[in-house]
Amino acid sequence: MDPDDHVCLCFRVSLRKVRTFLNREDPPVASRLADCLGAGTGCQWCVPFLRKLHAMKQAGETIDLPISPESYAARRATYRQTGTRSETTSGDDDLLE
Ligand code: FES
Repeated sequence: MDPDDHVCLCFRVSLRKVRTFLNREDPPVASRLADCLGAGTGCQWCVPFLRKLHAMKQAGETIDLPISPESYAARRATYRQTGTRSETTSGDDDLLE
């Protein structure tokens, strides 16, 4: 993902905004990312990814998601249609490990 790509598509919260919030606020729990423009408080799709980004910050790792914005948005569209996260595609689990 590029910095200006959106992690939370509901509220158009970019990876850059999430990084800045994590680095500035250093929230003790991932749920505090909701204070970053409401990230994660809509359809809930991005919540596991926000948790992953928070964990990366806590571990001192580079805060990033190795996925194209197109693929990310397509997976969210499936999630919104089916209400479930894909377990058969190589997808979400790879990103969340
Ligand atoms: S994509 Fe973040 S709450 Fe919907």
